Amino acid sequence: MADNFESVAIDRIIINGGKKLYGDVYIEGMKNAALPIIFATILTKSKCVIENLPSVSDVILSLRILKDMGASVKYIDDTTVEIDTENFEYGTAPYDLVSKMRASTYLLGAEIGRFQKAKVGWPGGCDFGVRPIDLHIKGFEALGAKVSIESGYINALAENGLIGNQIYFDVASVGATVNVMLASVLAEGLTVIENAAREPHIVDLANFFNTCGANITGAGTSVIKIRGVKKLHGCTYTIIPDMIEAGTFMVAAAAAGGKVTIKNIIPKHMETVSTKLAEMGVDIEEYDDAITVISDQKMNGVTIKTLPYPGFPTDMHPQFSAALCFADGISVVSEGIWENRFKYTDELRKMGANIMVEGKTATITGGFKMTGARVKAVDLRGGAAVIIAALAAEGTSEITGIEIIERGYHDIVNKLAALGADIHKDRVAVSPLNIV
Ligand code: EPZ
Repeated sequence: MADNFESVAIDRIIINGGKKLYGDVYIEGMKNAALPIIFATILTKSKCVIENLPSVSDVILSLRILKDMGASVKYIDDTTVEIDTENFEYGTAPYDLVSKMRASTYLLGAEIGRFQKAKVGWPGGCDFGVRPIDLHIKGFEALGAKVSIESGYINALAENGLIGNQIYFDVASVGATVNVMLASVLAEGLTVIENAAREPHIVDLANFFNTCGANITGAGTSVIKIRGVKKLHGCTYTIIPDMIEAGTFMVAAAAAGGKVTIKNIIPKHMETVSTKLAEMGVDIEEYDDAITVISDQKMNGVTIKTLPYPGFPTDMHPQFSAALCFADGISVVSEGIWENRFKYTDELRKMGANIMVEGKTATITGGFKMTGARVKAVDLRGGAAVIIAALAAEGTSEITGIEIIERGYHDIVNKLAALGADIHKDRVAVSPLNIV
């Protein structure tokens, strides 16, 4: 007898593991640099051409928010977009759009900077436990805005305009650093951010702004100085390569074995990842804008502790945990940024992984047999982790939740298939009762 639940279509990634990877893979522009720069165009009130923009759903969503609010957004080719924010209007972006991603907090900084007021719905994004925005609020308040939270919206108003100030962050937050840069670039006087985030995407945002006529110094160090300017102009700007996408392919090659050259990257940004893979016994060859990973799948366990840049990136920890399931010996992975970034380990356990999580530390005993299973992407990098495990495991894996993976990886299935992986996407109709 038919059940009362109508079947729904779900997309899956199917991987038959055990194929080595060979060839070249080209890396897209960096999602986490593209997102702040897209919102930064609001402050230019003019036409910007952004090149090397990754075609991932978070970027498309951000462009949609700008378009919905009056900006003109035109794709020139697959990775180049022209954004004209002259007619961008003050307003409240649709809640269902902003609640889908974390980067929608950048609309706050951009609106405050341009209109001295903002109203934005509570942001979404990957669930790593508590994700406060107290530092963003502290930054806006230091510049003269009053901030309140009501009915799921964050409201800010700077009645007397924004005036530069000295702001100290207890935690080096990427998002809060971006937001203060957005809010202060047109403010009166000098803003100094102390204990600023030092990530390459912060430097990219400063470079974008300076190309538009801003006066920002110190990006890439822990003290950023923003001297407000009266006006910005448009520019053409190329986004830096995505070090996390690059790192994900490097770890995939290490775990699955083979020889893969990761192209269109900045090797300096990859140092922590390259060093850790070398420590695991994987051969790494570095070139001007490429890295080759050569792996015979013999890896040894290592210790990893994630830290703000230039420390080991938290956004690479799940992928490494997946690879370490195939390494000899015991590995310890400690998360230094997020409260709870280990949900993906449940999925790896379904494949046979021996992982113990206590607090913010995972202990992985490598060498247990890993076999394909029905698993899901619980968050963006956790999704990349199950793909890596499935590539190296024996047998077939079915991965659901792939829309989460597509938030940050463009065409990952075809890119891996081109390297020789037995991987494809399909769509099946299932009863809601059978969704894992
Ligand atoms: C950015 O998130 C990235 N997202 C994340 O990448 C990344 O994991 C994270 O930086 C750390 O590198 C984007 O760039 C869109 P934070 P963000 O503010 O800005 C605490 C991915 O996979 N904190 O630097 O939200 C916070 O709890 C994503 O691409 C406060 O205490 O991170 C955390 O412990 C996932 N108060 C630490 O700071 C605040 O007001 C760092 O967070 C804000 C943050």
